[in-house]
Amino acid sequence: MTVQPPLASRMARIRPFRAMDLLARARALEAAGCDIVHMEVGEPDFPTPGPVVEAARTALGDAALGYTPAMGLPALRQAIAGHYGERFGCSVDPGRIVVTPGASGALQAVLAVLAGPGDEVLVTDPGYPCNRNFVHLLEARPVPVPVRAGNGWQPTLQELEAVWSPRVRVVMFASPMNPTGTLLEEGRLRELVSFVEDRGAVVVMDEIYQRMLFDSAPFTALSLSDRLYVVDSFSKYFGMTGWRIGWLVAPPAQVEAIDRVVQNLFLAAPTLSQHAALAAFLPETTTLLEKRVAAFRERRDFLLPALEAIGFRVEVPPSGAFYIYADSSRFDDDAIRLCDRLLEQAGVAVTPGADFGEEGAATHVRFAFTTSLDRLREGVERLGRFLAG
Ligand SMILES: Cc1ncc(COP(=O)(O)O)c(C=O)c1O
Repeated sequence: MTVQPPLASRMARIRPFRAMDLLARARALEAAGCDIVHMEVGEPDFPTPGPVVEAARTALGDAALGYTPAMGLPALRQAIAGHYGERFGCSVDPGRIVVTPGASGALQAVLAVLAGPGDEVLVTDPGYPCNRNFVHLLEARPVPVPVRAGNGWQPTLQELEAVWSPRVRVVMFASPMNPTGTLLEEGRLRELVSFVEDRGAVVVMDEIYQRMLFDSAPFTALSLSDRLYVVDSFSKYFGMTGWRIGWLVAPPAQVEAIDRVVQNLFLAAPTLSQHAALAAFLPETTTLLEKRVAAFRERRDFLLPALEAIGFRVEVPPSGAFYIYADSSRFDDDAIRLCDRLLEQAGVAVTPGADFGEEGAATHVRFAFTTSLDRLREGVERLGRFLAG
């Protein structure tokens, strides 16, 4: 009998990502000859923009490609700061911007400087699942804030008050949020930020989907306070998921702490990706990316009524990102079982609510419209046929 090395006790609290498991099973079915419509993955189906790829090619020939400074290429930090001015009308000192390996790296660095054993971190339920696992890795305690469809799936002041304790150090928001695509509008966010900061805790705002808005102009929480953190990424809007590059904006007083943590965690974000990302803000790239946002809007406008017509109930339509969070209780009161049936019997991959928390998880599923309109039409037809039969 082989003796296995023991796992750290925290590993008992780290859960796998069900969407990834579904994707693996969908791929296995495809390998066996089945056709699967993918609505489970939160990854844009568009390739990395041409000018970004071109910038990487040039860097391969010209740049030294050693480590960059831990906080990132100065030119890229400058370009990101310029982007805040142009896109959000918000002036940000490039000295506060730290380039990271994706928003994932940014979230880990921010939590590492803010939370440790005994500290509580508020996370929305439903919400982005990796956040609670990052908190567990630091041996801090993620505390769910149950959010409701009636409030746009975003927290209210009363909901924060209900779970508040003196141990809360960090409160994590996202707008638009994953899995619902709903926004935390400025007035409510302002109120929440004051509540949190008045109690000596810190807001971490995930703005990874903030440029993918369908009905309103982009807005950054940086315009509300310089005591909060903003986390962002080149992954989604900029079409660079696999390049593993994102950034954070730190409060001026904590840039030095972030620098220390980033030096140790990553040394630096990938150098080739940093050179490539310099082209992400070029006007020709923006033109291309805005066409993609229009395509996502068109997909939402198709998929929302189409899902409702076959019996899913969407309590709050998404205002951004590429997700629809739908009540599936009419078909099954166990969304995990429903998603298994949809994958295996209808050939459509969808993520169950359980990936995102506990609140309403058994009666909700997430559709990602990260595939073409034609494939979405095909998917809805299959769902309609299967669920009616
Ligand atoms: C809300 C949210 N934050 C962060 C991430 C991580 O993104 P990145 O690829 O930049 O690490 C994701 C990815 O799905 C996400 O949905």
